[in-house]
Amino acid sequence: MAQANVHPPVSWVIFAGMAALLLSQGVPVRSGDAAFPKAMDNVTVRQGESATLRCSVDNRVTRVAWLNRSSILYAGNDKWCLDPRVVLLANTKTQYSIQIKDVDVYDEGPYTCSVQTDNHPKTSRVHLIVQVSPKIIEISSDISINEGGNVSLTCIATGRPDPTITWRHISPKAVGFVSEDEYLEITGITREQSGEYECSASNDVAAPVVQRVKVTVNYPPYISDAKSTGVPVGQKGILQCEASAVPSAEFQWYKDDKRLAAGQKGLKVENEAFFSRLTFFNVSEQDYGNYTCVASNQLGNTNASMILYEETTTALTPWKGPGAVHDGNNGAWRRAGGAWLLPLSLAHLLLKF
Ligand SMILES: *[C@@H]1O[C@H](CO)[C@@H](O)[C@H](O)[C@H]1NC(C)=O
Ligand SMILES: *[C@@H]1O[C@H](CO)[C@@H](O)[C@H](O)[C@H]1NC(C)=O
Ligand SMILES: *[C@@H]1O[C@H](CO)[C@@H](O)[C@H](O)[C@H]1NC(C)=O
Ligand SMILES: *[C@@H]1O[C@H](CO)[C@@H](O)[C@H](O)[C@H]1NC(C)=O
Ligand SMILES: *[C@@H]1O[C@H](CO)[C@@H](O)[C@H](O)[C@H]1NC(C)=O
Ligand SMILES: *[C@@H]1O[C@H](CO)[C@@H](O)[C@H](O)[C@H]1NC(C)=O
Repeated sequence: MAQANVHPPVSWVIFAGMAALLLSQGVPVRSGDAAFPKAMDNVTVRQGESATLRCSVDNRVTRVAWLNRSSILYAGNDKWCLDPRVVLLANTKTQYSIQIKDVDVYDEGPYTCSVQTDNHPKTSRVHLIVQVSPKIIEISSDISINEGGNVSLTCIATGRPDPTITWRHISPKAVGFVSEDEYLEITGITREQSGEYECSASNDVAAPVVQRVKVTVNYPPYISDAKSTGVPVGQKGILQCEASAVPSAEFQWYKDDKRLAAGQKGLKVENEAFFSRLTFFNVSEQDYGNYTCVASNQLGNTNASMILYEETTTALTPWKGPGAVHDGNNGAWRRAGGAWLLPLSLAHLLLKF
């Protein structure tokens, strides 16, 4: 530790001591004095930067000192404090300045330049303001929740001045502010509210800091598309069942009441996250019939039935009309798309059984 190297003369101690005493007794600050000493009112620096405290003097001044609250940092050229971050920048006929390196929040406060002119001590006060960039110190972890549940997200940030905290939902459709607060509460969450939520902490000191939380909303499968298809004998036929679900649905196929075995000859089953597809490479009479696709995940299951029916080879455009879809979740019959079924095709099919 670099102790103050010189023992200051007694008069210095008395002067500095008097300055400290004046301060502690709340003697009014005389920075408004037309003459001097003159000093900046406020010095604003960021944490980690250096602060320069300047005090203007003239040649009538006989003694000078810088104080941090009531403790002397420098008196003339003599260092009185142990803090290595404090250095003397200038002690000239016109200026008496010190520098505090690597400023931290605890350095914030009043600093006083004390001068003695014609045996009269005067003080001038500077307020050191320390700014700190925003920093997120606590944020909720990614969560997975069932649809209809309640979600509570927290984002705690520090900084000087206190940062403003906002939450927004990053969705492909719209980016909107959902909370101007540290807390984000969602009651009865819907699947549309799943996705990334971004917490942003900002003050004017530095660029805002952001962090994201992923909210996964689980829901049971919902079959969005399952069409009946007409295919002539000897052609390739495809039946497809589309379902959305979180976590992704698992698919099973039934023909009438019998489960379709995997690896059946001439038939390919492809299961993806959002659909399952049956491909008949060479449709035969026995392939025609009523197929049911069952989509399930941990939260439930649903099914839809569709018909692979015989189509005459003369038809120029294959029939692509929607079939009847049975929604296992509400147990009601509905029709996907148009509310119609080709009566001809059905009659044709019924004749076969
Ligand atoms: C100095 O800072 C204080 C506190 O932040 C503020 O109230 C005051 O107005 C500032 N003075 C000047 C001259 O900027
Ligand atoms: C100023 O005083 C405060 C309070 O005693 C102290 O924490 C801080 O380290 C001091 N700063 C300097 C630069 O002397
Ligand atoms: C969700 O919050 C609402 C309103 O505060 C409450 O009535 C409901 O019971 C909560 N649901 C769950 C699953 O905690
Ligand atoms: C389709 O199956 C029929 C009857 O088994 C056969 O005669 C025909 O050659 C097959 N077609 C193709 C393209 O494999
Ligand atoms: C197809 O099978 C399902 C399930 O067994 C049944 O509910 C539906 O009525 C059948 N559709 C036709 C057209 O026979
Ligand atoms: C299809 O859903 C209905 C209604 O929930 C159910 O009764 C039926 O057993 C389901 N069929 C299959 C094959 O899972």
